[in-house]
Amino acid sequence: MAPLRNYFLYFGLGNISGISISSIFLFQKLLPNCDPVDDDQSNILGETLIHTQDEQLQIRSKTRQWPDWPAVGYEEVGKPLVTKGESFFNDARKIYFEKDANGKTLMDEFVEIYKNRPDPVNICGIRINHALALFLAVKQIQPSLVIESGVNAGVSTYFIRAASPSTKIFAIDPEEKPICGQGERWIDASDKTTNYTGKNFVDLMALDWEGMVTKKEIDPERTLVFIDDHLHAFERIAGVMKFGVRHVVVEDNYKINEGATRNDRISTPKQMFFGKQWKKEGDWLFNNLVAYAEFPPIVPPIMSKVSTEPRKKAGGFMHSSDENKDIVHPMLRPDLSEDDLKIYKDIATTLGIDPSLEDRFAYMQFMNYNQICHLELLPMPPKLLYKD
Ligand SMILES: C[S@@+](CC[C@H](N)C(=O)[O-])C[C@H]1O[C@@H](n2cnc3c(N)ncnc32)[C@H](O)[C@@H]1O
Repeated sequence: MAPLRNYFLYFGLGNISGISISSIFLFQKLLPNCDPVDDDQSNILGETLIHTQDEQLQIRSKTRQWPDWPAVGYEEVGKPLVTKGESFFNDARKIYFEKDANGKTLMDEFVEIYKNRPDPVNICGIRINHALALFLAVKQIQPSLVIESGVNAGVSTYFIRAASPSTKIFAIDPEEKPICGQGERWIDASDKTTNYTGKNFVDLMALDWEGMVTKKEIDPERTLVFIDDHLHAFERIAGVMKFGVRHVVVEDNYKINEGATRNDRISTPKQMFFGKQWKKEGDWLFNNLVAYAEFPPIVPPIMSKVSTEPRKKAGGFMHSSDENKDIVHPMLRPDLSEDDLKIYKDIATTLGIDPSLEDRFAYMQFMNYNQICHLELLPMPPKLLYKD
């Protein structure tokens, strides 16, 4: 049973013109347990007071800060780095590097899987930072189904399957063959993957959600939607939420005015949370989330200081001159810690990548980063679900 306060928020923001933001915050104040729970003292160093339109109503807003890192994550829209609630993405370093009883880490497991990826370059798809994010999301959520919108050469399908042999996958892409000259698509040999590709293509929003739920073929509460199709991310998130989906990972979470396609430049959660022109959408999305977090890149942009790659106008890549005011603290700090430098060099050399990132292949591997994010959506009030 979802907390009652969740339903208040949904109804309030589903009709944003009929209810002021301050009234919604009033609901938050009146209902119990509305302040975020501070259970990660190592990362959360500050708490600030913010004011709504109604000066009398003050709510506590948490900030997330890190040592020796300029960015501040705010639990509030209108900021270049927004965060909300608790997502496992915030604990990526701990989860990836904690040793098990045999002295092994999840990173050890991932590196072996990454070494054997079907396309080592994956020019039009995920590389190490995003593969780490997707792999972790599947490991942590343990979804019964992953719906992957945007398959291309099947590299992301490969990581989903590697993270969970038992999860069903719907792999969706209108193309019969990979784009970007990527050769043959990797096809999952398991009978747990349904390929909605080429002539069998069905768009994410055109799947028979109602039929599948009614026949109990899928459980939207245990479904993860992975969006990597360069379509309108906001509309797709809001769309799948109506079907009861609770977890979404958005790969192309570009910063404001950046993006490989027009849709990227006008629809990512990061833009909706910061761009003044998207205030209505940003508020709606923020208030219908349990959690929002951007995945940390494995190393900071400064690790590419010897690279001569120019900054990419479209975004999607970190650059050594980045100010880092709008991205989360990286998992490792090889720039500050000898221990982290050793870990980073071990990972890079195991993967056959030059850790100096001087050559283009190495730069493209470690610096490709789009603020890939995890959204945990509020449950839909049962009355609004189509099945009722
Ligand atoms: C960036 S690529 C996906 C890369 C892949 N996820 C990976 O990381 O290896 C984007 C893909 O989205 C596909 N696409 C375009 N329209 C789509 C749609 N309506 N639904 C699903 N995929 C779509 C394109 O054909 C292309 O293959």
